[in-house]
Amino acid sequence: MASRALNLFTSLLQPPVRHHRLPRLQGGRAWRQRRHRAGLLSLLLKQSPLGVKAWPPNLSHISTKAEVSGFDGPASLSDCLKGSRVVVIPAGVPRKPGMTRDDLFNTNAGIPDLITAVAKTCPKAMICIVTNPVNSTVPIAAEILKKHNAYDPRRLFGVTTLDIVRSNAFVAEAKGLDVSKVSVPVIGGHSGVTIIPVISQAVPSVSFQGAGRETLTTRIQNAGTEVVNAKAGAGSATLSMAFAAEKFVDSVLQAIDGKRGVIECAFVESTVTEAPYFSTPLLLGRDGVEENLGLGNLIEFEAKLLQAAMPELQQQNIAKGVKFVKERY
Ligand SMILES: NC(=O)c1ccc[n+]([C@@H]2O[C@H](COP(=O)([O-])OP(=O)(O)OC[C@H]3O[C@@H](n4cnc5c(N)ncnc54)[C@H](O)[C@@H]3O)[C@@H](O)[C@H]2O)c1
Repeated sequence: MASRALNLFTSLLQPPVRHHRLPRLQGGRAWRQRRHRAGLLSLLLKQSPLGVKAWPPNLSHISTKAEVSGFDGPASLSDCLKGSRVVVIPAGVPRKPGMTRDDLFNTNAGIPDLITAVAKTCPKAMICIVTNPVNSTVPIAAEILKKHNAYDPRRLFGVTTLDIVRSNAFVAEAKGLDVSKVSVPVIGGHSGVTIIPVISQAVPSVSFQGAGRETLTTRIQNAGTEVVNAKAGAGSATLSMAFAAEKFVDSVLQAIDGKRGVIECAFVESTVTEAPYFSTPLLLGRDGVEENLGLGNLIEFEAKLLQAAMPELQQQNIAKGVKFVKERY
């Protein structure tokens, strides 16, 4: 793929991101650290061999193929998005100890402005939403895109890859396996009980007895909270999120580039369960979701997790996102 054919930006538009202005405008260390964390995903994406645009000026000095362009403030949003084929949105506020992802709903409800800009500027782009609560921000984005006649369910993704990354890490650790060869599908949503690790479908096959399976499942479901508590107010799982989001975006890029057989789990519009959005393994292609690979065979323990996830996912998280847009836009 020619490098110019693919413009990819992380959304870092507010407040201004120009390096030399930051300390003065934001008054020092805390802001510089925040900005530094937000750049980690850009740093990883800068290593894409497929040619992406990311965050200057520091990144532009790195000797990889990705091209770097800088944009400063909301006024340049449409310039930033022009020609983009993949838009990654990690914009938003992370959790503090004691908060659920749903508690971020009002704080991160600024997503509609970004999605409106995408709808107007690059309506054919693949949109990868990292911002929490993913279970609500994806339906919010879908409703906004529908209002602009720009909704294509094949192209809108909630990034849940971190749940898979964690599952792979924990299973490999528990069983003494090479983590690079472990693959555990995680279905459902991206918060608490809606995160459903399907350990019975892990590759390679692993066996956990009753209590062991339950402990591992609970750890995967609460892993984000583990990090938020450990950081004691200094942010959420920024490093592992950057790793996971880069992995997902790389798969999207590979699929756009024509690679066959690319499979990732993501939170998308779905008819697999009664929830209108749901994460399952997806076959990705040039135009986004090519095929939803569904739930596969769930053992009884996992079927119960699915049942337990539905009320929160469907009646709380998804319905809340849809209602928010209907009432405000
Ligand atoms: N999907 C996942 O797996 C996952 C994992 C961890 C964190 N998250 C979520 O990702 C988001 C970012 O977390 P982080 O740790 O990178 O936070 P961070 O504070 O390090 O970075 C967030 C960036 O977003 C910018 N921002 C905030 N509101 C904005 C807006 N309305 N428009 C444009 N930019 C805006 C901030 O200025 C900052 O640069 C949070 O919502 C967090 O909950 C998701």
